[in-house]
Amino acid sequence: MTIITPSKTSSLGRLNRILSGSKYSDARYFILVDENTYSHCLAKLISNVEQLQSAEFFEVPVGEECKDIAIAQQLWETLLESDADRNTIIVNLGGGCVSDLGGFVAAGYKRGIRYINIPTSLIGMIDASIGGKTAVNVGASKNQVGFFLQPEITCIHPAFLDTLPDEEIFNGIFEMLKTFLIADPEKYHQLCEIILSGTLVVLPEMITACAEIKAAVVKQDPEDRSIRHILNFGHTFGHAIESFSRQPGQKPLPHGMAVGIGMVCALYLSVQKLGLGQEHLEYYRQVASKLVKMPQYSLADTEQILAFMRQDKKNADGEIRCVLMQELGAPVIDLPIDENELRTALLKIQ
Ligand code: GLY
Repeated sequence: MTIITPSKTSSLGRLNRILSGSKYSDARYFILVDENTYSHCLAKLISNVEQLQSAEFFEVPVGEECKDIAIAQQLWETLLESDADRNTIIVNLGGGCVSDLGGFVAAGYKRGIRYINIPTSLIGMIDASIGGKTAVNVGASKNQVGFFLQPEITCIHPAFLDTLPDEEIFNGIFEMLKTFLIADPEKYHQLCEIILSGTLVVLPEMITACAEIKAAVVKQDPEDRSIRHILNFGHTFGHAIESFSRQPGQKPLPHGMAVGIGMVCALYLSVQKLGLGQEHLEYYRQVASKLVKMPQYSLADTEQILAFMRQDKKNADGEIRCVLMQELGAPVIDLPIDENELRTALLKIQ
C-alpha cells in the first residue's frame, strides 16, 4: 500500500506520476463519487491526473445510505456490463462511506481487484481511507458485513477540505485527537493548543503525522485482532452515544463528535481505574468543549446508551470492553468494564 501524504509537491501530481508508471499501463479506472464530490472534487482530480481522464464514473448517495448491498450489486452489474476485467481499478473519491463501499465492491469483484482511496473529508484522510476496512450496512447494523482489503494507494490532498463545513472538520479533529492521545502526546498537546487558541487550522503536517500513525498500527495488525484495537479509544462509548443521539427527540451527533464525547468517559475511567492524572481529563474536557457541547445525560438516558453498548462488536464473553489509558500515549486494550462504572462515566461527562 502506498500512502501519498501532503508535502511541498502536490499529492495529485504525485498520484499522476505513479499512475503513469508501467505497473498501471493496462489499468482501466472507474471513479466512485457522491453528489458533493461530483460537484466539488471530480473536475480537480481529473484535470490533475491524466490517467483518469478516460475513467467512467458512478454516483452513489451521500453518507451511510450508499453502504447498501443493493448499491454494491448495481456497481458489480455495471462493471460486468462494461467488461471490466481484473486490471480495473476503482477510485473512491469521497469520505469514509464512499471508500467503505468502493473497497467492498473491489474486494468482491472477480475475487478482488485494486482500489485507490482519494479521501475528501478529514476523517477519511486520517482514518477511514487507511487500513483496508471495507463494509456495507445490513439493516440497522453498521459495518457488520465487509472484507479486509488494503487500498493500492491512498492519496491525501488536503485542498479538498476547503469546501467542507466546520462541523465536518471538527468531526475529523476528534479522530486526530484520539490518534495523538494514544500514540503521540506531543502532537496531541500541539493540536489542543491550536484548538484552544480559537483559530482552528488543520496543518497538512498534522494530517501526515496522523495518517502515518494509523498506517503503522495497521501494519502491525491488519486484521484488527489485537494492537489495532488501540484505535478504538473512546469508541465503545462513542458508538453508543452516536446511536442514542439518533433516537426520536435527540439531536443526531456525527461519528467524530460522539467519539469526542466518548473520550471524556474513557479518560474518566482511565483516571479511576489505571491512575491516569486527573489533569489530563480536565484539559481534554476543556479542549473538546470548544468543538462540541457536552451533553448532560439523565439516568434514563444512560440506560439506553448502555443498551447500545451491550451490542458493541468489540464485546467478548458477554462483557463490555474498553480501551483505557495508563499514561498519554500508553493505551491498554480490551479491558472489561463493569456496567456501574460505565454508567458513572456517562454521568460525569459535564
Ligand atoms: N477506525 C479504526 C480502524 O480502522 O481500525
